[in-house]
Amino acid sequence: MDRLLIGGGVVLKGELRASGAKNSALKMLAAALLADEPVVISNVPHLRDITTMIELLASLGVEVVVDEKMNIEIHANTIKSFRAPYDLVKTMRASFNVLGPLLAHYGQAEVSLPGGCAIGPRPVDQHLRGLEALGAKIEMSDGYVRATSNGRLKGGHVYFDFSTVGGTEHIMMTAALAEGVTVMENCAREPEIVDLAEFLNKMGGQIEGAGTDTITIHGVDSLKGCSHRVIADRVETGTYLIAAAATGGCVKVRNANPEHLEVVISKLREAGANITQTDDVIELDMAGKRPQSVSLVTAPYPAFPTDLQAQIIAMNAVAEGTSTIRETIFENRFMHVHEMNRMGANIRLEGKNTTAIVKGVRRLTGAPVMANDLRASVSLVIAGLVADGDTIVDRIYHIDRGYEQIEEKLQNLGANIRRIASE
Ligand code: EPU
Repeated sequence: MDRLLIGGGVVLKGELRASGAKNSALKMLAAALLADEPVVISNVPHLRDITTMIELLASLGVEVVVDEKMNIEIHANTIKSFRAPYDLVKTMRASFNVLGPLLAHYGQAEVSLPGGCAIGPRPVDQHLRGLEALGAKIEMSDGYVRATSNGRLKGGHVYFDFSTVGGTEHIMMTAALAEGVTVMENCAREPEIVDLAEFLNKMGGQIEGAGTDTITIHGVDSLKGCSHRVIADRVETGTYLIAAAATGGCVKVRNANPEHLEVVISKLREAGANITQTDDVIELDMAGKRPQSVSLVTAPYPAFPTDLQAQIIAMNAVAEGTSTIRETIFENRFMHVHEMNRMGANIRLEGKNTTAIVKGVRRLTGAPVMANDLRASVSLVIAGLVADGDTIVDRIYHIDRGYEQIEEKLQNLGANIRRIASE
């Protein structure tokens, strides 16, 4: 297994380009199953999760052509199987989102239940209830969901019990091919949902309200081919900005979307960063200062994203003052805390592990560390950057799921980081 070796103490300085959003691209790859004609998705990041989704589509018999610039062309009409096997779904929950499109387009689907994961149990009850509201007949056996429909799915009324990104996206794409109108209430409002709705509308879908809590979908008889460019990855952008702030550095991120990072930018300003932005560039300058601690609560968009919680804790670990970080999306998303404490951080968990109290220390100390989730792992890279001595981050296949060329991007900012290949 590959590891990352990080020599701490470098102030990050320079420029990088944001990659396309993993969590948009993954859902578009699933939604491509709805089309009768080839669709082309561009600005797709070169990541393990994307490769897993391509493998899943290929296992269904779908022709997928990827060029050297990661433009992905998908021909859904070559499909031969409607079964998504456990091996592919267990490694990545987003695979579950092929269920609705297969059902809506081909009237049948058999998809393995994803099960829990490192950051919590993550059930799919909201997805299944939504599909049933559209007339799907759902049966569970042997760890698989088997869904069928009596003729076309029918538009319906879906009320989500709480904000669910995957649930909102899954039902939205499925309803695009259902007969009649679907109204979804209490929807999640993340930018990736808006991006997916734009993609579906380019395919001929009729979706209104994405980005608000009520989405209306006028189902259409068929969806055609289109090409679409994925939005910038706000979590990746935020990760580099936080890393720069933690090191007292100065970093410019191009191809970014500042609109999607308003709260993050405002928290980094609170930490002492000078941030300037244009439509697609964000520049952060800490002028060599130690960051100030910032307290926050993670919550659905537009609030502070859970996907940047671990990274901000790494910054707070070396900031001036004490902060309180409360996680409200996932039950078990503080595993980085124990690893950071091994590096000399002073972080205490409270309230059934829902809140971290971070007392900033001047420096951390390098150590061998590991984590079993993507964002926790990258937060340990940030911790390594602000530690004295060497840090080795193990199990970085998690990082490879979501960060394109992380060592090259950090090296370009001056970081002392390299991959150690497994023996
Ligand atoms: N939940 C349920 N039932 C459901 C669906 C969700 O109980 O049917 C719970 C989850 O267990 C969780 C909460 O509701 O506690 C929110 O889950 P949500 O459905 O919003 O998350 P998701 O769709 O599974 C996506 C991202 C995550 C990101 C969350 C929250 C993708 C592929 N994943 O997950 O990204 O943290 O939204 O913003 O889009 C990551 O990229 O590292 C990552 C984990």
